[in-house]
Amino acid sequence: MSDGQAFFPQARFGQTLRRDHWWVQPLLTFLGLSAFIVYSTARAVHGKHFLVAGDDAQFLLSPFFSPLLFAHAPHNVHAWLGEFPGWMPQWVSPAFLILWAPAGFRFTCYYYRGAYYKAFWADPINCAVGEPRSSYLGEHSLPLIFQNIHRYFFYVAALFIGLLAHDAYLACWRTQGGVEHFGMSVGTLVLAINCLLLGGYTFGCHSARHLVGGGMDELSQAPGRHGCYNCVSSLNSRHMVWAWCSLFWVGFTDLYVWMCASGVWKDIRLF
Ligand code: FES
Repeated sequence: MSDGQAFFPQARFGQTLRRDHWWVQPLLTFLGLSAFIVYSTARAVHGKHFLVAGDDAQFLLSPFFSPLLFAHAPHNVHAWLGEFPGWMPQWVSPAFLILWAPAGFRFTCYYYRGAYYKAFWADPINCAVGEPRSSYLGEHSLPLIFQNIHRYFFYVAALFIGLLAHDAYLACWRTQGGVEHFGMSVGTLVLAINCLLLGGYTFGCHSARHLVGGGMDELSQAPGRHGCYNCVSSLNSRHMVWAWCSLFWVGFTDLYVWMCASGVWKDIRLF
């Protein structure tokens, strides 16, 4: 302490004075994210039973495959660009073309970064717990400097919320004898809740908060922006809750559509 600074020896990995169950949170994060990554990857590779459409059925499109850019028959009639071009390999599923956007948004999210740095890299495994390595270059150097791309992913993610809202709207219609009828089923509600939860997560993003509230010295002088800022801030204060609820529900929504499309479950009509 000759220069007025205390010297603390490097703690061993896992060494801590904490008496609480500090390992529970990173363990649950590890299990939850691993399960989602395995499921979503398997579904993207599977690439089937992602759409319920046809006579007397609500139109249900899995969020893992929305927007549907290309598709093989018979779903090519519902794809924006029709049938897959001949030069594209057969193993390419419609999910491969779009999942990079929501995946990139989640991967670079400020909340998830804090969570998976602990859960997957143990860097640090939790606050005031010994780390496995002594070097940490931070997010100012390669490779983590690429996390700063998050603000751009926000624009893409906001676009996806509009697309999912359109999917929920389409799920309010069914065709009977060639005529469109308004109606709702359990599937409609599943898709609508999915859009709501993903919207709460997306518009509570730290980048959204900066977008609506940043760059002004006196936010109160712009009542419209101030109102938006308060809305985003209130979503942002529960960002972790929105993150996990939306992650779980988007996986469940895909599972629901998959089960209905493959005939295992029946989409119950409400009216
Ligand atoms: S900070 Fe989590 S989505 Fe942007």
